[in-house]
Amino acid sequence: MSGFSFGTQLIYVLAASCFVLGLHLMNSPATARRGNQFSTAGMVIAVATTFALIIHAGVITATGWIVMLVGALIGGGAGLYAARTVRMTAMPQLVSMFNAVGGGAAALVAIHDYIHVAAAVTGVGESTTITTLLDVIIGSVTFSGSIIAAGKLQGLITSAPVTFPGARVVNALLAALALGAGGYVISTPSLAALWIVIAASLAFGIAMVMPIGGADMPVVISLLNALTGTAVAMAGFVIGNWALIIAGALVGASGGILTKLMADAMNRSIGNIIVGGFGTGDTGAPVVPGAGAGVRSISADDAAIQLAYASKVIIVPGYGLAAAQAQHEVADLADVLESHGVDVSYAIHPVAGRMPGHMNVLLAEANVPYPLLKEMDDINPEFPRADVALVIGANDVTNPAARRPGNAISGMPILNVDQAKSIIVIKRSMGHGYAGIDNELYTNPKTSMYFSDAKTALTELTAAVKTLVG
Ligand code: TAP
Repeated sequence: MSGFSFGTQLIYVLAASCFVLGLHLMNSPATARRGNQFSTAGMVIAVATTFALIIHAGVITATGWIVMLVGALIGGGAGLYAARTVRMTAMPQLVSMFNAVGGGAAALVAIHDYIHVAAAVTGVGESTTITTLLDVIIGSVTFSGSIIAAGKLQGLITSAPVTFPGARVVNALLAALALGAGGYVISTPSLAALWIVIAASLAFGIAMVMPIGGADMPVVISLLNALTGTAVAMAGFVIGNWALIIAGALVGASGGILTKLMADAMNRSIGNIIVGGFGTGDTGAPVVPGAGAGVRSISADDAAIQLAYASKVIIVPGYGLAAAQAQHEVADLADVLESHGVDVSYAIHPVAGRMPGHMNVLLAEANVPYPLLKEMDDINPEFPRADVALVIGANDVTNPAARRPGNAISGMPILNVDQAKSIIVIKRSMGHGYAGIDNELYTNPKTSMYFSDAKTALTELTAAVKTLVG
């Protein structure tokens, strides 16, 4: 190995260290921004080193340089524009599109490599072909699957599960075709068979994501993210680039862990999510106004009295807070209570809302200080000491039914809201949440229901508390 080559490998290790450190810093919202900067620095170092390698090898023609630089400018510009202008709520779609281009680019690297190698030599080295094929298959599945996932979340494709009789057989046949044609490519170099692998993998990606309901999409996007990382790592093996291998492996591993954590927090297996058909009710259960038997409703003034005279209030935000875009209103209410000496904190369930970190992002937008946001395991022991648990648009994550077997959320860890001294729930009706089951919390004698849109309710509550505390 020449001194130059050794030096570049060392610089790649430096870039990889930046990625690892960056990921570590992303563990906490307080250091996440710095984590992002470290990872970006790692990527800049890796790209610059790759350019240095290319220049040193002197293999690229002038046209090649123009194509590469124009491509990088267009891609980088589009990515920068999309990332700066995206609404927080549209983040999952954007991540999905980034997965699509990542997987697609990784697949193109392998396809180019195969065509190049197949044209240059008659026999193809087996190990190269296996990684090349895995790159083509995983990259193509991720490309088409991610585009469908983004389309579902953006509302361009129906978010309801799309299934038909025999759909699973079709999926199995497509997978068998991709693998079978791949096996043929390994034994007999053949471009035609490679095109079959690509077509079958693209079709499999579409067929895999279409039956999955829109509300399950965040888990699927996280899974596709893990696949993108794996495809990129394979592309690293194909062209012998360590930075790609390490970066891809990190994305693959972290995406895999996040997928597992999300599935666990919903008490569902990843297989159950991929099989699909769940989450159809995400477009909203019908609004069923009014209270039923055993349900007590409360007015803004009465709720305000409870809050103003409490010494400890725990706010429990959920999907309804995001749907009502009431983050600023809840922050205002908390400010008023805190300035009156009430101890206020927010209980954050890992799958409250519809995407990872949904509540954190939402509340950060309203400048709620991070230390007030407490994770489930930290806040659960505090509920028995809370005078009021104020539940805003959260349903499944508070449902005590999860502690019993035999229902859709059995086994899902929940926020122990029912242990608070009193409970106020803000939602529009007795309508269900994502899991589509009744919430036993609403008939608890300690619970009062404040039936209203979250934004309206919080505005009214803040005004009423202000009147009380002067
Ligand atoms: P949900 O159980 O889905 O309940 C949300 C509640 O918000 C509904 O019952 C609805 O009742 C109420 N709501 C809707 N719009 C409202 C508005 N404008 N004002 C006031 N209330 C409103 O939410 P959750 O407790 O946050 O639980 C999340 C669920 O999503 C879990 O089952 C979880 O497994 C699932 N999930 C989460 C994720 C991630 S990663 N977070 C991903 C996929 C699925 P009304 O209609 O009566 O108002």
